[in-house]
Amino acid sequence: MPQRSSPLTSAVRAVHRRLLGWLMRFGAGSGGPGALLDRLPAASRAPLLRDGLDPVPELARLREQAPVSRLALPLGLRGWLVTGYPEARAVLADAERFSSDFRNLVGAGALAAEQDPGGLGMIDPPDHTRLRRLVGPEFTVRRLARLEPFIEGVVGELLDAIASAADDGSGRAGASVDLFAAFAVPVPALTISAVLGIAPDERDEFMAHCGARFDIAGGVGESLGAVTASLDYLRGIVAAQRRAPGDGLLGRIIAEHGDEVTDAELAGLADGVLTGGFESTASTIALSAIVLSRNEAARQVMVGTDAAATAALVDELLRYLTVVQVAFPRFARTRVELGGVVIEKGDVVVCSLSAANRDPRFAADGESLRLTPAEASHLAFGHGVHRCLGAELARMELRLALPALFRRFPRLRVAVEEPRFRDLSIVYGVDELPVVPEPSR
Ligand code: HEM
Repeated sequence: MPQRSSPLTSAVRAVHRRLLGWLMRFGAGSGGPGALLDRLPAASRAPLLRDGLDPVPELARLREQAPVSRLALPLGLRGWLVTGYPEARAVLADAERFSSDFRNLVGAGALAAEQDPGGLGMIDPPDHTRLRRLVGPEFTVRRLARLEPFIEGVVGELLDAIASAADDGSGRAGASVDLFAAFAVPVPALTISAVLGIAPDERDEFMAHCGARFDIAGGVGESLGAVTASLDYLRGIVAAQRRAPGDGLLGRIIAEHGDEVTDAELAGLADGVLTGGFESTASTIALSAIVLSRNEAARQVMVGTDAAATAALVDELLRYLTVVQVAFPRFARTRVELGGVVIEKGDVVVCSLSAANRDPRFAADGESLRLTPAEASHLAFGHGVHRCLGAELARMELRLALPALFRRFPRLRVAVEEPRFRDLSIVYGVDELPVVPEPSR
């Protein structure tokens, strides 16, 4: 099987390591890299583990016994794991009683201002509200519609490239190709570069820079200083856009609200869009391709002409796969009763989105992929004020990429018996996906 590695794959792997690094850093303290995960007992690792595409059975057992259960954490932290759907939704909906500010954990004193990674995910209102208002308008269905032709073009070009890469000399795409590197990664990567307003002739350089900077910053358990270094490239882009605002997200914010936002905040927002929107979408595309290649009925719905059914199936794949396995940690600001337990002020609360999305109280038969799902209010994008900024963008990418992939290659199959899934991960997925495209002709 040909091994394809590109700056984009390198970037997606590095983003993954960086996310894991964040988690590790939360608990590592002076214990060094790996301290948190090394010390996590099996039950506490369950939310970051999978059994193939499914959450490990331990999570369902926990949810049945108690939808909010103790989560053993090192360093004297008192933790709770939320596995029930209504309970997780209640936590995510309640920014008043559950803070997302990461300084709750690392301690404000231990954090220098320039080390603040910025972004939206780990700050509270009113700062969160102010920054989200700046970026929010760019991610509405209406604003995003203008990106549709661009994404369609990217998808078409990538599928052409896959067909010729997989041509085994017979004129058919019969040889194996790494779908992750050749399709799942570049679709969101190029989409995000367009969202940010990176000029087309700078896109290759942009992605190569991203790969390099995440490689530097991504080591598990890296210090916050390394995160600071990793933002340098985006700060450079922000500075350039200050001088000459382009027509993407950064340029528009600078043109319309330039005096309300600092360069550091803008770089943090760009970093959040990149980190948040790149790997999660790439993973969902790759895992969806695995599911659809094995499920003829679902594939028919995906390539069919009923747009509403296709959209519903995309959301069902989002729920079923729930690649962002846990939400960022929340910190109780006050004593809270939830799911029959009492959470004390200062406790750490981790919501298992994958367990919540399969809670039978929310989704009957939720352990399998349903072709006619009754509900759309899954938690794959989170919920409440921190609900995914890019949810509509991700949906759009999936609705354009998945039908096009299976229309072009209706008999696409995974070339190995079992893909190599990630081990312990916040964003679940694969790092490569060998497939044989096998077009119909
Ligand atoms: C299938 C794809 C995606 C999934 C499954 C996903 C999942 C999530 C989840 C679960 C959260 C909430 C985390 C929490 O509350 O702790 C979130 C937040 C976020 N996502 Fe996504 N995401 C995806 C795509 C994207 C895209 C394309 C972007 C690019 C704009 C993006 C940017 C963000 C940002 C900036 C946040 C933080 C929002 C805030 O705190 O206000 N995501 N995402």
